[in-house]
Amino acid sequence: MKTILVTGGTGYIGSHVCVQLLDAGYHVVIADNLINSKREVVDYIAQMTGKTPDFYQTDLLDADGLRAIFRAHPIDGVIHFAGLKAVGESVEQPLRYYTNNLTSTLNLLAVMQEAGCTVIVFSSSATVYGENNAVPFHEGMPVSATNPYGYTKVVQERMLTDIAAAQPELSVLLLRYFNPVGAHPSGLIGENPNGIPNNLMPYVAKVATGELPHVNVFGNDYDTPDGTGVRDYIHVCDLARGHVLGLQYAFGRTGTDIVNLGTGHGSSVLELIHAFSQACGHDLPYVIAPRRAGDIAECWADTKKAKEVLGFTTQVTLADMCRDSWNFICHQREQAH
Ligand code: NAD
Ligand code: UFG
Repeated sequence: MKTILVTGGTGYIGSHVCVQLLDAGYHVVIADNLINSKREVVDYIAQMTGKTPDFYQTDLLDADGLRAIFRAHPIDGVIHFAGLKAVGESVEQPLRYYTNNLTSTLNLLAVMQEAGCTVIVFSSSATVYGENNAVPFHEGMPVSATNPYGYTKVVQERMLTDIAAAQPELSVLLLRYFNPVGAHPSGLIGENPNGIPNNLMPYVAKVATGELPHVNVFGNDYDTPDGTGVRDYIHVCDLARGHVLGLQYAFGRTGTDIVNLGTGHGSSVLELIHAFSQACGHDLPYVIAPRRAGDIAECWADTKKAKEVLGFTTQVTLADMCRDSWNFICHQREQAH
C-alpha cells in the first residue's frame, strides 16, 4: 500500500481526492494549515470511506514541520494542493501570495529530496494559458498570466520543471484544472466560501438560497453564442478521479509532464444559471453587469492528452454538477439548523 502526502487535503479539491485515494487503497497523510478549510473535513472523509487519514495541521512555510511528517511516514508520493487561490486577493496582497505559494513548494521539494521522495503531482490551472491563446487550450501552448495568483502557477510549473530536469529520478505531473465545481454526492464535502463568492457557481448557489439577491452576469457582449463568458466546468469528483489516474501515471515514469483536466466542452454563464435553476427548482434572477477586468471570453480544454496518457474522460454533466452543489448547500443548511 503506497502512502501519499496530500498537502491542502482538507480543502475543496484535496478532500475529494483524499476520498478517492482512500477508496483506491492508498494510505493518506494530510498536511494543511486550515487557513481555508476546516478540521471536520477529516471526519467527513473518514465517514465516507471508513478509513481515517493521518492529519497534520502544518503550515508548508514551516520546513521543519514538513520534515517531521516525512520522518513519521514512508511517503511514496505527494499531491500538492496547498496554496492561496483568490485572484482578486492576490492583486491586493501579492507579497503574501508569492511567499505562501512559492515558498511552500520550495520547502516541499527540498524536504522531498532529503527524504528521497521522487513523485509529485501539482495543482496547476488553466489560468496559465493567459489571454493570447485560442480555444481549445492544449498543453503545448505558451503560458502567461494576468495576475499574481496566475504568476504563482506559472512560476511553480517552471520551478518543478527545472528541478525535475536536474534530478532525473524525479517524476513531476502538472495537472491544469479548468473550472472545478460541484460537490461529493453525499453532501458532506464541497465548496462554500465565506462572504461573497468570486466564482460563478458558489455565487449562483447563494442566490438560490436567497442570501444574495441576483447573479451579476459580467458582460453579455463577448464573441460567444449568447454573449456571456464560456468556461469548461468540471465536476470535482471527475477531477478527483483524474488525480488518481495521474498519480498512477506519475509512479510509472520520470521527468515532467503536463495534462489538462477539463471536459472539453464550454458552457456560458446563462447556461449555468439555467442549469442551476433546474437543480434548485426555481428561476434565479440575474442582471447584466459590466465585464469583469481580466476575464477572457472563452476557456475550455483540449482533452486529447488526458485521454491518451491517463485514459481520463469526464462522466457527468452540468446538470449533475448543479444538482450536487445544491445538495451540498442544502445539507450544510440543515446541519446549521
Ligand atoms: P482550497 O483553498 O479549498 O484548498 C487549499 C488548501 O490549502 C486549504 O485547505 C488551505 O487551508 C491550504 N493551505 C493554503 N496555504 C497553505 C500552507 N501554506 N500550508 C498548508 N496548507 C495551506 O482550494 P482548492 O479549490 O481546493 O484548490 C486546491 C489547489 O488547486 C490550489 O493550489 C488551487 O490554486 C488549485 N486550483 C484551484 C482551482 C479552483 O477553481 N478551485 C482551479 C485551478 C487550480
Ligand atoms: N461570472 C459572472 N458573475 C459572477 C462570477 C463570474 O458572470 O458573479 C462569469 C465570469 O465573467 C466568467 C465565468 O462566470 O465568464 C466564470 O467565472 P469564475 O470566476 O467562476 O471562473 P474563472 O474562469 O474566471 O476563473 C476560475 C478561477 C481561476 C482559475 C480559472 C481556471 O477563479 O483561479 O477558473 O481554472 F484560474
